[in-house]
Amino acid sequence: MKKVAVIVGDGIGPEVVSATVRVLEAMELPLELIPAEMGQDCFRRTGSYLPDVTLDTLKGSDCCLFGAITSPPSYDPTYRSPILFLRKNFDLYANVRPVRRLRKDVGLVDLNLTIVRENTEGMYTGKEREEGDAVILERKVSEHVCRRLVKYAADLAKREGLGEVTCVHKSNALRRSDGLFRKVFFEEMEGTGLQAKELLVDAAAAAMITKPREQACWVTLNLYGDILSDEAAALVGGLGFAPSGNYGDKWALFEPTHGSAPDIAGRGIANPTATLLTAVMMLRFLKMDTEARRLEQAVERAWLDGAMTRDAGGSLSTNEMASAVARRL
Ligand code: NAI
Ligand code: MG
Repeated sequence: MKKVAVIVGDGIGPEVVSATVRVLEAMELPLELIPAEMGQDCFRRTGSYLPDVTLDTLKGSDCCLFGAITSPPSYDPTYRSPILFLRKNFDLYANVRPVRRLRKDVGLVDLNLTIVRENTEGMYTGKEREEGDAVILERKVSEHVCRRLVKYAADLAKREGLGEVTCVHKSNALRRSDGLFRKVFFEEMEGTGLQAKELLVDAAAAAMITKPREQACWVTLNLYGDILSDEAAALVGGLGFAPSGNYGDKWALFEPTHGSAPDIAGRGIANPTATLLTAVMMLRFLKMDTEARRLEQAVERAWLDGAMTRDAGGSLSTNEMASAVARRL
């Protein structure tokens, strides 16, 4: 039995995660699903955004399936984002975000791109200080972090037969920090048998639209990856299609790329596809490859057969979409 901590979170988190859990239960897998909580609703109930008992559950699990949480609406100096905390403190250094179009009439371009994003430093150090009338942010790019990230991306590209990795950076402007990332990239790619390519981040944002078929696997720093993965998701139909995994050396946390979507929460219309594809990534991590493929094919078939949620021009509710997938397992 593998132990999966399940955190539904806020907004549409509970809707998309429970729909996904129903599909996983229909698959009758050797998984023990252990509920845990964090986020805004959890704070209202317990006074903590990330209670110690949740940390204990996570530490005792093989991985976590997480929905999304809502951030406080205004600046609160005592708030630390639970998800940023987990990524950093569980050393989940590689954020893998594959984006792929499931139907020709959904989304804008034929993209099939895996973005591997640095997840522990870069712009997201959280170290901001005031100096005069300015706010100064500490941005950190370290060599060992770049090295393990590039190794991770190269292994993934080999495993998935992608043939290449593109380093997305801005070393023409950020000469030392992004320059370090770029240098490490070409060093680590040496001898992998993969083609090593590069794109400046602004050009990458354009290339995704103008040359989608030439993009296979990008490795990039934290902020760039965050922004580019939302762009990629939009191009294949929206955030409802974008899964992700946060990987460390031994443990991982899986979550759809989207947030808690308060604008549609509570209406049962969120697209559960991102979370279902997130579960596919989770099953692969748990070495249940056949079952992962089974779920992935059911999702693909459901969409090809015309089972579609509202964000993609269809009419199915979250639960109806999940049922459409479950029927095709
Ligand atoms: P969002 O991703 O929640 O929503 C952006 C837009 O995409 C909205 O119009 C929403 O309705 C739509 N959308 C997102 N997921 C969808 C789905 N599954 N099906 C259909 N439509 C979907 O981003 P937003 O609005 O910027 O943030 C809302 C809250 O979520 C904020 O408090 C933010 O801080 C938080 N957030 C949390 C994340 C996490 O928990 N990892 C990640 C991103 C944002
Ligand atoms: Mg984001």
